[in-house]
Amino acid sequence: STTTGDFKVADLSLAAFGRKEIKLAEHEMPGLMSIRAEYAKTQPLKGARIMGSLHMTIQTAVLIETLVELGATVRWVSCNIFSTQDHAAAAVAVGPNGTPENPQGVPVFAWKGETLEEYWWCTDQAMSWPGEAGPNMILDDGGDATMLVHKGVEFEAAGAVPQPDDSDPEEYHVVLETLRKSLATDKQRFTTMAAGIKGVTEETTTGVHRLYEMHKAGTLLFPAINVNDSVTKSKFDNKYGCRHSLIDGINRATDTLIGGKVALVCGYGDVGKGCAESLRGQGARVIITEIDPICALQAAMDGYQVTTVEDVISIVDIFVTTTGNKDIITAAHMEQMKHQAIVGNIGHFDNEIDIAGLAKLPGIKRDEIKPQVHEWTFADGHTIIMLSEGRLLNLGNATGHPSFVMSNSFANQTIAQVELFTKQGEYDKQVYVLPKHLDEKVARLHLDALGVKLTELSKDQADYIGVAVEGPYKPDTYRY
Ligand code: NAI
Repeated sequence: STTTGDFKVADLSLAAFGRKEIKLAEHEMPGLMSIRAEYAKTQPLKGARIMGSLHMTIQTAVLIETLVELGATVRWVSCNIFSTQDHAAAAVAVGPNGTPENPQGVPVFAWKGETLEEYWWCTDQAMSWPGEAGPNMILDDGGDATMLVHKGVEFEAAGAVPQPDDSDPEEYHVVLETLRKSLATDKQRFTTMAAGIKGVTEETTTGVHRLYEMHKAGTLLFPAINVNDSVTKSKFDNKYGCRHSLIDGINRATDTLIGGKVALVCGYGDVGKGCAESLRGQGARVIITEIDPICALQAAMDGYQVTTVEDVISIVDIFVTTTGNKDIITAAHMEQMKHQAIVGNIGHFDNEIDIAGLAKLPGIKRDEIKPQVHEWTFADGHTIIMLSEGRLLNLGNATGHPSFVMSNSFANQTIAQVELFTKQGEYDKQVYVLPKHLDEKVARLHLDALGVKLTELSKDQADYIGVAVEGPYKPDTYRY
């Protein structure tokens, strides 16, 4: 492992492999590449110091280098301890023109298989800007970077970091420890940093949820763009992305034939819809759980059985949680599962499956089959196979979503960064979504690559349905 300088990755010698895959990905990411071409001259992100916390994959490498091409300086971490692709991290750290001996890329602090202490250390490092108080923009996925700044400001105002509660998750103890160290050396670090932050763009459902909560509580410190709810993000990445990467993760982890098996998908939102479709596509008999009558009815009309976890616990071969909610699969559930049932989560955080409760069962044993695949043996001798320790399995056991779908998400991210950075006066401390014409633009950038030929409205037709010939074509209330 070679880690020197202002970055930390697993192995810089992987950079050449990473660079080859980045080249392949660029061709599959027409949205990002045409944004690079569009803004090459005007450099709208010149002066932007972007701290990014988003899975350090090959696709993210293309995003990072797009931000750099638009003029930004960037520092990066993964938003999950298992999601980094080490060759991607190495290639970004080395940069397109550097070598492992002379790295010239973006400071990346990320490797596959971090501890929680390392994860928060990395996040802290990516926020520490040489010669500056910190970043002036955040690009977040799940809201951990935004949370750290907000908690930092809160505790600096209080003059102390509180002691964690026993009921707080283990990870929160680490967050508090990270902030305690920061406060000991600089009592105003996050307060000064936050004052300089012009905004955050947030990638995912769970992070967006946190932002709206902060806004509701009146604690949001800077403007935010909810990238997730661009149609070309959540209706594509969450759905078609998971349709691809869910079974990729299950296959790489277990190589178990999915056809003929019974699969339970908890949650039938955007992610759940994509997951259910991919499992059905492999020939599984798919069952859904939902709490929302609308999504439950959708699942039923799509032809799935909809019932509760308890109802089918003993017949299911593959369990997948997609809810963004906690305590979906409990330790008591896991005790009742079939021998060698596969259990995994694709939602953002690891609280959907109660691993802590599982570990506390009397007589329970955990055996590593390979990294991110563990067999848990119960006192009665039956076992279950847990993927990625309950963290998102498509990034832990596979390589996340493929380039083409991420080009849509990351085109939205890039446009959102440009919006917040260049139009500072126009955004308050609220949560915004990108206007529909930009959403349509992102979609448009991906049509040619798929050979799509759009029908053009005549002026007469446009008038008849009450839209402009060049769009937007739908009201904001339209659901797609
Ligand atoms: P969503 O809100 O569209 O769907 C979640 C669904 O779960 C909702 O329909 C909700 O009614 C249902 N639900 C909530 N509690 C439940 C319970 N106790 N039992 C059964 N169903 C329940 O959200 P979306 O966009 O599908 O995202 C879900 C999660 O996946 C979020 O944490 C999000 O951040 C994450 N995500 C992960 C990705 C990945 O690559 N792994 C990609 C995109 C999103």
